[in-house]
Amino acid sequence: MTNKFSYIRPHIQEMHPYEPILPFDVLSSELGIPPERLIKLDANENPYGPIPEVRAALANSNALHIYPDPESRQIRKLLAEHHQLRESGIVIGAGADELIDLIMRIVIEPGDKVINCPPTFGMYAFDGALNQAKLISLPRRGDFSLDLPGILQAVEEHKPRLLFLANPNNPDGGMISDHEFQQLVDLPLLLVMDEAYVQFIEHGRSVLKEVVSYTNLIVLRTFSKWAGLAGLRIGYGVFPEEFVPMLMRAKQPYNVSIAAEQAAVITMQNLPKAEENIAQIIKNRDQLYQALAQFSWLKPYPSQANFILCQVEGVSAFDVKQRLRKQGILIRYFDKPGLSDHIRISIGTEEQIEKLITALKGIG
Ligand SMILES: Cc1ncc(COP(=O)(O)O)c(C=O)c1O
Repeated sequence: MTNKFSYIRPHIQEMHPYEPILPFDVLSSELGIPPERLIKLDANENPYGPIPEVRAALANSNALHIYPDPESRQIRKLLAEHHQLRESGIVIGAGADELIDLIMRIVIEPGDKVINCPPTFGMYAFDGALNQAKLISLPRRGDFSLDLPGILQAVEEHKPRLLFLANPNNPDGGMISDHEFQQLVDLPLLLVMDEAYVQFIEHGRSVLKEVVSYTNLIVLRTFSKWAGLAGLRIGYGVFPEEFVPMLMRAKQPYNVSIAAEQAAVITMQNLPKAEENIAQIIKNRDQLYQALAQFSWLKPYPSQANFILCQVEGVSAFDVKQRLRKQGILIRYFDKPGLSDHIRISIGTEEQIEKLITALKGIG
């Protein structure tokens, strides 16, 4: 039988499609609720959006007809100053997502092994499949902590090239200890620490400053969460310097748009303003955690990120998601091992949290 997809590479044909979140306007017409009344707590975005200075600058930009700088020099300079690192170790991507793919593209030959510790951010498995990596899955324990002995054993057995770790982890918001980090970074593989949510940490620490001390450590960051720029797509990685020329060879030259770089630059130039939003989100997180803990059928996990994972008892987690959805409140449900009785709620504004809690009271 002729395969009608015979031009398409077999591993792409075998991939599961990514489950995208519906855009606001589509959701709004599906639910019959105007977009401004939707409460979007399903993708860990920043409910306050970018700082006003960003909106103003983009509205007045006179550079949108010009191709962007392939080396994103302006934002790299500011990031280097901020982190007290050299610009030559920083690469900018269209979100951390692009950098996850780019790292795999320059490191993975088909069949090479990558360690993944689910439940976690889905792009590690997605980009692994795209790049023909063989994923070695080391599931987390019931409390979402790492199975460190399992990882150490798998490294010996499978000789993987890469290990991706979200820290804080998505979807539970927990972090690894210094001891765990030390054991992982001493392994004979490339360790990618994804610090997408690091700005919301109260207990725990970033390992960004450690990159200069190792040849096998990469740290990823993003402007999507703390800076409210998810829609513009900009993130960065801090790399051992010898990696960077190789990444630059594989990167699309115009991957980061003029608007995205400009927005990130203005955010960095007005850091105290953006930090006010972070502080407010941390405050809201505490408020939401306390409120969720009052429900006998919800068990919220302490989180160091801008979302809270809850175990749902005695009620179907999927039903909770659906019933909130009908009221225009969007939260995340994952039909995945270890998560099917959980919901994940992104931290909204104080007003959104109040509405969510009122809606939850109507459910259980
Ligand atoms: C752990 C983690 N890394 C990266 C991202 C995506 O970041 P970006 O928007 O910069 O691609 C997310 C988004 O949900 C995430 O949870």
